[in-house]
Amino acid sequence: TGKGSMKITIFGTGYVGLVTGACLAEVGNHVVCVDVDVAKIEGLRNGVIPIYEPGLDEVVKRNAAAGNLEFTTDVAEGVAHGLFQFIAVGTPPDEDGSADLQHVKAVARSIGEHMSEFRVIVNKSTVPVGTADVVRDTVASVLSARGAGVEFDVVSNPEFLKEGAAVDDFMRPDRIVIGTDNPRTTELLRILYAPFNRSHSRLVEMDVRSAELTKYAANAMLATKISFMNEIANLAERLGADIEHVRLGIGADPRIGYHFIYPGCGYGGSCFPKDVKALEHTARDIGYRAELLSAVENVNNRQKEVLFAKISAHFGGDLAGKTFALWGLSFKPKTDDMRDAPSRVLMEALWAAGAKVQAYDPEAMKECRRIYGERAGLKLCDRAEAALEGADALVVVTEWNAFRSPDLSLIKSHLKYPVVFDGRNVYEPEQLRSAGLMHYGIGRGG
Ligand code: UGA
Repeated sequence: TGKGSMKITIFGTGYVGLVTGACLAEVGNHVVCVDVDVAKIEGLRNGVIPIYEPGLDEVVKRNAAAGNLEFTTDVAEGVAHGLFQFIAVGTPPDEDGSADLQHVKAVARSIGEHMSEFRVIVNKSTVPVGTADVVRDTVASVLSARGAGVEFDVVSNPEFLKEGAAVDDFMRPDRIVIGTDNPRTTELLRILYAPFNRSHSRLVEMDVRSAELTKYAANAMLATKISFMNEIANLAERLGADIEHVRLGIGADPRIGYHFIYPGCGYGGSCFPKDVKALEHTARDIGYRAELLSAVENVNNRQKEVLFAKISAHFGGDLAGKTFALWGLSFKPKTDDMRDAPSRVLMEALWAAGAKVQAYDPEAMKECRRIYGERAGLKLCDRAEAALEGADALVVVTEWNAFRSPDLSLIKSHLKYPVVFDGRNVYEPEQLRSAGLMHYGIGRGG
């Protein structure tokens, strides 16, 4: 039948769930994806991929056509299908910044209600330390209410994929973290991940809580690198130094490295902002004040205001009636995701100051329309060049490749004031200056 070797059920068809399901199907397993969102499942059945993610479209369609990847809203069917029950539902931040576990618990209850034989429940969502215990208790209590004595295990198997490179990250992971206290379960996961673990072992096996914390520690460390660089960038600017030289100078030390030390207009996305807050909250819950985490978050919130501050200072605080061309809306290139994107903080500040925005993004236009609708002060342009027409100045917010080598004379001729605010240090100040454009970068005081 072409059905693969292992039966897998995935709850949640967001970034993590859909990519996990598609990639596990790609290596020959039989995967059923379950979601409560009827329209989404209906769409997926008809080949409509709800997110933009390079390569995902083909993998989903190929495996759906082969019968390896199925979509349903039927929870009972999902529980009956997979030996592995992946929980990949959202954990949105609560009002207080802690992770909201209601969807995770709902899936755990469903598994408990419908399960009739041994199941491995795999937590793939980013969930606070202790969540595996919550899932275990939830399933156990539903089972005992049913009077059913079915065995199961709960594993923490966090996902480290990056948006824009998600399929590749899953197919070629740099690590596969497996947190369980049960050797039998470890063995099952080793078999499941064998196709992704060919040349040398990328498995990192540990206890459940360490695995849960590993996920937060990884994201918090990466966010710390960025906030650190942004802080040094702000210092560089005020000290007459150029952060781009400093970046290369420190990156040369292998203990520091060149990766992930790019200053900019702040980190966004669905992970860093949420995860730093959630970890801070976890710390607070156990009576520990996580000073560094608070600082990382505060520096980032401040960094998202830096572009506006530069714009406002340049125009002497008078932005009313001015129009700004915005290149880039997504929180980073190669995604249409605008969650916690710096572009939003900037646009909202510009609107509050009475300015207008003409924006272009290679992928996020639809998302921007969904968030802001048709509103006065926002014009979405279908080309980068069109956004420049009649604008006072240009602001680059996301470093899409398409923005890297623009026609500078065209920028100059379209703008009322020849000034570019470069939130990602995409351009060299000298290069713009020689084209008659003023350049404001991040941390470039030299
Ligand atoms: C991040 C992590 O990189 C993944 O390892 C993790 O699995 C994922 O979160 C998650 O928890 O699901 P992602 O949010 O897709 O992935 O995006 P990143 O590429 O990490 O970028 C995050 C933000 O940091 C972006 O706004 C980006 O512009 C910013 N950034 C990144 C910088 O400002 N400077 C840098 O040097 C690097």
